[in-house]
Amino acid sequence: MIKIALSKGRIFKETLPLLAAADIQPAEDPETSRKLILDTNHDDVKLVIIRATDVPTYVQFGAADVGVAGKDVLMEHGGEGIYEPLDLGIAKCRLMTAGLVNAKPVRRRKRIATKFVNVARTFFESRGEQVEVIKLYGSMELGPIVGLSDMIVDVVDTGNTLRANGLAPIDHIADISARLIVNKAAMKMKHQPIQSLIDSIGGAIG
Ligand code: ATP
Ligand code: PRP
Repeated sequence: MIKIALSKGRIFKETLPLLAAADIQPAEDPETSRKLILDTNHDDVKLVIIRATDVPTYVQFGAADVGVAGKDVLMEHGGEGIYEPLDLGIAKCRLMTAGLVNAKPVRRRKRIATKFVNVARTFFESRGEQVEVIKLYGSMELGPIVGLSDMIVDVVDTGNTLRANGLAPIDHIADISARLIVNKAAMKMKHQPIQSLIDSIGGAIG
């Protein structure tokens, strides 16, 4: 049995053609089904549908053998117990800091609102800057508008969300794309089917 962890939305949609290249087709659409484990056209391949941020955790602990996760989420998780054999080249964006256009400099420690607290700490530490990091679970762009934070760390694609909220990107932290990840023990124990999945998906990457 191979369990593949995927999140709904853009990761699922953009991974579907890659799974098809490995002859894996889900029996149901996760957008309409309430099921969290989806059957596929193979009795021994199941899709586990979870939150994007939880994908590395499921794979780390072997609750899923394989998964697809954004590099942003992997950087935040740390990558323990996980191999990252393929850059899938999908869900591309950039991890950036951002702040209000024309923000006044602050004398105290800057406050940074983000769901990527580890990434934010590491980034500002690497610049020798002491900051206060505030954990949020979404809508980070609101932070500077309502005075919760001075800056945010979030993913940016078109920049539309930042612009719509009077914010501008400041520092580029990393280029992001989704990766195929594999549980380290499963890579040994289920080597043949997992390697064959990696080869088929690898051959289909644009
Ligand atoms: P969670 O449900 O755990 O809060 P999420 O809402 O961030 O996660 P998605 O929006 O589906 O989940 O994003 C999944 C991945 O897609 C992110 O980890 C990131 O790598 C990438 N991503 C996020 N936003 C964009 C975007 N606007 N354009 C391109 N890629 C993006
Ligand atoms: C992500 C992210 C930003 C936005 C950036 O949110 O948290 O808010 O995308 O994309 P942009 O630079 O193109 O505006 P979300 O997953 O809600 O994006 P979505 O609206 O594309 O689903």
